[in-house]
Amino acid sequence: MFSNPSSKYRAYPPIHLPDRQWPSRTLTRAPIWCSVDLRDGNQALAVPMNVSQKLELFDALVRCGFKEIEVGFPSASNTEFEFNRRLIEEGRIPDDVTIQCLVQAREDLIEKTVQSLIGAKRVIIHLYNSTSPAQRRVVFGKTKAEIVAIAVQGAQWIKDRLPRLAGTDVRLQYSPESFSATEVEFAKEISEAVMDVWQPTPERKMILNLPDTVEVAMPNVYADQIEWMSRNLKNRDSVIISLHTHNDRGTGVAATELGLLAGAERVEGTLFGNGERTGNLDIVIVAMNCFMHGLAPNLDFSRLNDLVQIYERCTGMTVPARQPYAGELVFTAFSGSHQDAIKKGLAEWETRAGDHWDVPYLTIDPRDLGREYREVIRVNSQSGKGGVAYLLESEFGIELPKDLQREFGPLANDAVDRLGREVSGTELKAMFWREYLERAEPWQLIHFHADGSAGVFSCRASARRDGAEVALTGTGNGPIAAFVHALHESGAPRFEIADFKQHALSSGTEASAIAYIQIRLPDGKTKWGAGVDTNIELAPIKAVLSAVNRALT
Ligand code: KIV
Ligand code: ZN
Repeated sequence: MFSNPSSKYRAYPPIHLPDRQWPSRTLTRAPIWCSVDLRDGNQALAVPMNVSQKLELFDALVRCGFKEIEVGFPSASNTEFEFNRRLIEEGRIPDDVTIQCLVQAREDLIEKTVQSLIGAKRVIIHLYNSTSPAQRRVVFGKTKAEIVAIAVQGAQWIKDRLPRLAGTDVRLQYSPESFSATEVEFAKEISEAVMDVWQPTPERKMILNLPDTVEVAMPNVYADQIEWMSRNLKNRDSVIISLHTHNDRGTGVAATELGLLAGAERVEGTLFGNGERTGNLDIVIVAMNCFMHGLAPNLDFSRLNDLVQIYERCTGMTVPARQPYAGELVFTAFSGSHQDAIKKGLAEWETRAGDHWDVPYLTIDPRDLGREYREVIRVNSQSGKGGVAYLLESEFGIELPKDLQREFGPLANDAVDRLGREVSGTELKAMFWREYLERAEPWQLIHFHADGSAGVFSCRASARRDGAEVALTGTGNGPIAAFVHALHESGAPRFEIADFKQHALSSGTEASAIAYIQIRLPDGKTKWGAGVDTNIELAPIKAVLSAVNRALT
């Protein structure tokens, strides 16, 4: 790359708006949403959707709660025209949903668009022409006045045909395409020229869509452009200002959010940001950003995984693993300290129901998107004891004592490191079983029986030591103490019980208990052992032998 990009590229000139208001505003309600998946999103696919894919995606958008859906460019192809006709003739459009169609300022295309809409209940006819200096010069070779004339003529052709749509609630939308690269004064001039034709009123507003067709500047510049238009446009109360951002500089979401602060009332975008080049605005992100600030988005993404599947099936695109809200990994923490904080945060949240969400590293409760806590923590070599403990507990009900987590965590970590990949909860459980429960050397329990009461117990047991059967008898203030005594009597190394915990492992007829025993050796070192049995008296006895075996090998 050359060291002096200024010889080839220049910064986008700022908008003169010294008294800009948007930086000190906050968003207080969600905008009107319009999905452009079936038009802008579809246009950007290597293989555009066929009619049945468009129908499936349309139904999904309706289920999400979109009330305005740009369904296509009906003059562009038979598929697009046919799609409109199927929607209308098969009564697939709910009464409260408006379909929107895009059209260029050409009479034959406008005529075809109108034909495609006959019989619909509610429609938006969306006229556009491109206005930036580069488009005027390179694509059209026309002066500003000639570009205005194109828009005015297009607006008139549409107006002339409105009687053909009698009985249909028709609203009109104009986009000065490439608005964000257009001089604001010219964008105002051309928009007002279209308004002069359509004569919108506060009761019958038109939509003025101001596209960031190609993102050419920082999002604050787009916000300035929107505020400038909002403050300088004539008859502002007869117009709904709409945003339509793309993502060329990676700031489509930011531009939309700042554009809303700057006075826009409506947002166009697509699911997961599908669209030309780097994509359109990801409408899910902006809606969920509203939601996470406590604003009802009036869109329902509570079955987001299902929506991802429909989207991927219909478009052939994939949702990246890190896509905000929707990506496979966005509610997953691999780093140990994150896992630990999430685990503690989720546990605390369970005790604070009704309070405001405040869980470290999770901006939103995954359940609100139909996603599960189980997804939150996965384990790889970067993970710590917290993630390991969380998976064992959430998937198998194994509640490792804190100190045992500290012992097993690094052991699991080393094993995962050697594997060099992520491991599942089942694999972790197998590691735990191998380390603590499946050790049969040198000691293995054959039989155990204890009698006693009021703190005086005696036990009789048999075990295999290095393959040979050994009879064991001992006394103590409980069955475990009696067994420890019996082991010492038989010549096992000396140790004392340092900690003991036990809980049920599962319910029903297969109910079993898991016991965790920590022993302390004469040199002060400690070892944990674990035992599982359907008999709650036997589980800790097995755990004692597990700890002894671990100390001896
Ligand atoms: O990006 C854009 O400018 C468009 C217009 C047609 C609205 O898609
Ligand atoms: Zn677009």
